[in-house]
Amino acid sequence: MDSILVTGNGPLNGQIPIAGAKNACLTLMPATLLSEEPLTLTNAPRLSDIKTMTALLQSLGAEVSSLQDGQVLAMSSHDLTSQTADYEIVRKMRASNLVLGPLLARFGEAVVSLPGGCAIGARPMDLHVEGLEALGAEIELRDGYLHAKAPGGLKGAVHEMRFASVGATENIVMAATLAKGTTVLKNAAREPEIVDLVDCLRKMGAQISGEGTPTIEIQGVDRLHGATHQVVTDRIELGTYMLAPAMCGGEVELLGGRMKLVESFAAKLDVAGVHVEETEKGLKVARKNGRVSAVDVVTEPFPGFPTDLQAQMMALMCTAEGTSVLEERIFENRFMHAPELVRMGAEIEVHGGTATVTGVDRLKGAPVMATDLRASVSLILAGLAAEGETTISRVYHLDRGYEHVVRKLEGVGAKIERIKGQ
Ligand code: EPZ
Repeated sequence: MDSILVTGNGPLNGQIPIAGAKNACLTLMPATLLSEEPLTLTNAPRLSDIKTMTALLQSLGAEVSSLQDGQVLAMSSHDLTSQTADYEIVRKMRASNLVLGPLLARFGEAVVSLPGGCAIGARPMDLHVEGLEALGAEIELRDGYLHAKAPGGLKGAVHEMRFASVGATENIVMAATLAKGTTVLKNAAREPEIVDLVDCLRKMGAQISGEGTPTIEIQGVDRLHGATHQVVTDRIELGTYMLAPAMCGGEVELLGGRMKLVESFAAKLDVAGVHVEETEKGLKVARKNGRVSAVDVVTEPFPGFPTDLQAQMMALMCTAEGTSVLEERIFENRFMHAPELVRMGAEIEVHGGTATVTGVDRLKGAPVMATDLRASVSLILAGLAAEGETTISRVYHLDRGYEHVVRKLEGVGAKIERIKGQ
């Protein structure tokens, strides 16, 4: 397995291009199942999760061509050969469960493996099932698979979700586009990736309103047609790289970044002493003075502080002036980066869903291990600011969500290299 070697190397200066959003692309790709006409995505990120979704769609009989070095995905699901999402693929990536709603809507049946737990939590699918059952689906759990049927087609309904689940919102909205009648989805998730999905579905002929608010209304239509859609900028990659100059000093411009994608995150950074300015080309980020100040963080559904930036923010707080309290309210086990940061000299105490971080002057490089996607990049950020060398092992986690990390950080002066595993 490959590892990454990072050496603390002072301030970072220059530009980093931000890719298309992994979590938008992973819901836009299954949308191809809703129509027999081609769907083409541009600005797609080059990530292993996208390759996994490609393999899943191809296992169903869909055609997926990766063009222009992976930045364009030309897809067609005119002739599907299967409606079963196999455990072997689903266990690798929870987002595989996003084929459930589209398959049900288009074909009236779907067999999707339960994803099983993952490093950051149990992550059941009860909210997905409740929403699709509200649309008339009959869903049974058998042998670890959800067996879903809608023999007479799905019917629009009013449904309020118990929690604003991103994936459940995406599955229910996609299913409702072809249901008979009107669906009103309440307590819907409001993430920009959902707004991007609705933009794409509307281009395909769907009748939807309210995306980005807690109530989304969908008028079912008989069929959807093909479209071409540009994937929205990745706000989590954006937020991650905003922390690089915050931790190391210097000034970095994140190309493609827009303030509206990271408003609550940028507001928190401002309080901590990091200036974020929107330019024509993106977001320019620099520390206001020598050292950032500790701030408290509570993760919430959008527009609150994103759980996917909690690990990265913890890395910044490790060298902040003062003590910060980070509360993780979305996942039950998302502090696995903490012990690794402690190996680098951080002072962190974890009690249940709360981590208390007392800033130290400087972290010290050390061998550390990536445990999940966002933890892996928080260790790279810590290594950029640490004294000496940090080796991060198990970087396959990184490849799921960050394209060309070494090249992007080298481009702003970081001392970082990828070491091929045995
Ligand atoms: C999406 O996951 C993202 N993944 C996650 O990003 C992100 O952390 C999460 O939303 C929250 O923002 C993709 O978009 C592919 P949820 P999702 O359904 O849809 C519980 C990353 O790093 N829940 O909003 O799975 C669940 O256990 C990944 O890019 C139920 O209880 O998130 C979790 O505690 C990690 N029942 C919470 O809700 C359900 O039926 C949030 O889950 C569904 C979810």
